[in-house]
Amino acid sequence: MKRILLFILPILFLVTAVFAGFGLIQASFEEERLIDDLKKKAKAVNESMELSARHIFLENDLKAAYRLVESFQKRDRTQGCVIYDKEGKILAITERISDWRDKDKPYLSDILASKSPRGTLEKFREYSVYSYILPVTDDNEDVIGAIEVIYDTSYVFTILTQLWKRISASLIVLLLFIVIITLLIQRQIFILPVRRLTQWFTHFQRGEIDKLRPFKENGEFGKLITEVEQVALGLRVARKVVSDNANARIQREDTWTEAKLKDLVHARLGENAFFVVSNREPYMHIIDEATGSQKCIRPASGVVTAIDPILRACGGTWIAHGSTKTDRNFVNSKNKLGVPTEDNRYILKRVWLTKEEEEGYYYGFSNEGLWPLCHVTHTRPIFRETDWQMYKKVNQKFAENVLEELPAKDPFVFIQDYHFTMLPKMIKEKRPDATIALFWHIPWPNPEVFAICPYHQEILDGMFGCDLIGFHVQNHCNNFLDTANRLTECRVDTEKFSVVRKNRETFIRSFPISVGGYMSGNSTQFDENEINKIKKEFKLQDKIIGVGVERIDYTKGIIERILAIDRFFEKYPEYRNKLVFLQLAAPSRTHIKRYHELIGEIDELIEKKNWKYSDGDWKPIVYLKRYFSSEEIRPYYALADFCIVSSLHDGMNLVAKEYVASKKDSSGALILSKFTGAARELTDAVLINPYSIEEFADAIKFTVDMPDEEKRKRMENMRKVVLENNVYKWAGSLITELTSLKKV
Ligand code: F6P
Repeated sequence: MKRILLFILPILFLVTAVFAGFGLIQASFEEERLIDDLKKKAKAVNESMELSARHIFLENDLKAAYRLVESFQKRDRTQGCVIYDKEGKILAITERISDWRDKDKPYLSDILASKSPRGTLEKFREYSVYSYILPVTDDNEDVIGAIEVIYDTSYVFTILTQLWKRISASLIVLLLFIVIITLLIQRQIFILPVRRLTQWFTHFQRGEIDKLRPFKENGEFGKLITEVEQVALGLRVARKVVSDNANARIQREDTWTEAKLKDLVHARLGENAFFVVSNREPYMHIIDEATGSQKCIRPASGVVTAIDPILRACGGTWIAHGSTKTDRNFVNSKNKLGVPTEDNRYILKRVWLTKEEEEGYYYGFSNEGLWPLCHVTHTRPIFRETDWQMYKKVNQKFAENVLEELPAKDPFVFIQDYHFTMLPKMIKEKRPDATIALFWHIPWPNPEVFAICPYHQEILDGMFGCDLIGFHVQNHCNNFLDTANRLTECRVDTEKFSVVRKNRETFIRSFPISVGGYMSGNSTQFDENEINKIKKEFKLQDKIIGVGVERIDYTKGIIERILAIDRFFEKYPEYRNKLVFLQLAAPSRTHIKRYHELIGEIDELIEKKNWKYSDGDWKPIVYLKRYFSSEEIRPYYALADFCIVSSLHDGMNLVAKEYVASKKDSSGALILSKFTGAARELTDAVLINPYSIEEFADAIKFTVDMPDEEKRKRMENMRKVVLENNVYKWAGSLITELTSLKKV
């Protein structure tokens, strides 16, 4: 638009200037002509009255004088007539101009003396008038008086105004004409070819190769199009070569790395686009409370920890809720941005939700309903009809956002978690060609528990829109198959591990999720400085240090952990003053009453226990209640002699794996709840039942007393498991499974 204005405005300006100049000339000619006419007319009228006037003066016939001036009273345009005697005194004047009498007329004596007539424009009342004075002489050529005719000139201005109106109307028509013609020309020579090129690109991007038509454009534009076509062709060939090379490399390499995953994605997905959908966004823009400036953080979330390295490796689009006000400042017109911000590896598309939507869908149905339902930690799930309606509405909103991104053929959509159970069906209905996988990051309960949810039928039906549903452990897969079997009309194939319903088959598989970034991270001097700083700040020199890292959530067993630490110091007082436990805790879902209460309960309990044992500078628990970035957590893992993960129930728990992966020197030990998915793999951890405070306290003692050699051996074993079964392998197996469902 700006460009069109830049082009069109000078033309309009020029045409207006020419028209105005032309109008001025025409108006001044017209004015001159009209005044000239008036002069001639006034002169003629005056001359025609000369005889009658002479008679009036010679006979001193005042009656005739009155008659003469009054004959002007009714004339059109003519204002009136004045008869002067030879001294210049008024003998008679038309009544309607009687106040002309008062006008000062210094020129009159000159006219009478010189015997020359005079015509001039004069101001009278608020008008402009034309006055013509004719001296009248006798036979001896002596002046005997004068007659003056006064004409109203306002009609001249009326005619000129009409002329200007006509000129303006023609100018407007001409300008409109020019605008229309320019727009048409510009559309023809610029917009249409650019639009065709854009469409061509869109088809190319979406992989709609059959819709690509060769361009027939001449001139510079044609040359540009030829170049674009060459680049596009080169890109397609390059993609094919990358895909072939990638296939060859996958066969050669054993361990899963970022590069191997990249190869797998190129080989398996080729040109097929990859989309991730989750509630939590991987990068969140917030206002830094300390500095007041805007900054980008990675939220504390298992989904983010696992999926971000995958998209970093393979690119693609991640669609998630843009949850902060500041988020809006960083997206383009399509609500997208490249992330990570410093090194754009993939696209993040932010979906905006209203407060009501967030309240009902996220806080309400997802986190007060499904979350406690699936975790079975004895927090009562709450199901409200209004939340459920909002949950479906938000799923629909995400479906629309996903659908508008999908390319023409065979896209892959990878949905995360319990926030989007209705999304698979909504997408599948519109795009049956899309391959859809859903990964359930939390536990799946048994059918009796799941049936508590009043909407279980619809939820399962929504999930059956998937081609593949993944859980962390086989037990959750079994629970899901049981649930499908017991609560819906379907056929469960126990050989293939699939559910067949309404002629659609959904495969159920376990994929134990893991971590990736810690393997490649280079923790050296930077960590050492940070470690020393932390030790100094919390007076940890020569202390045995334990660490816990989580979101403040009732499923994480934080209360049980504090009680176990209390019992440990009670039972084994020799460790007082020698051991410090660092609890890093990020407040989360704080609008929910239960979470709000939990924050208060933890504060109170830690305060109480610290008061109970504190001795001089020493206190048993250092409680750091705030968000920590993964870079900030790193030195805490490094300095900790042991880490406690005491979830009451957890799908996997990536803190356990992160801690193990970060221990490059194989030091440290892990105390791990039996009720986490991670406990199935990390069997060399000290496994605990967090509900049994006695057993838990003894496990801390056992871990602290464990000989270094055994600790090292256990850590080495756990590291082997985590490094081999890393997040790249998790994603690799998932993509392999997904693509083998549909041959691409
Ligand atoms: O495991 C479920 C999950 O979605 C994880 O990604 C993460 O640990 C947690 O829930 C995040 O919760 P939220 O996104 O609600 O803060």
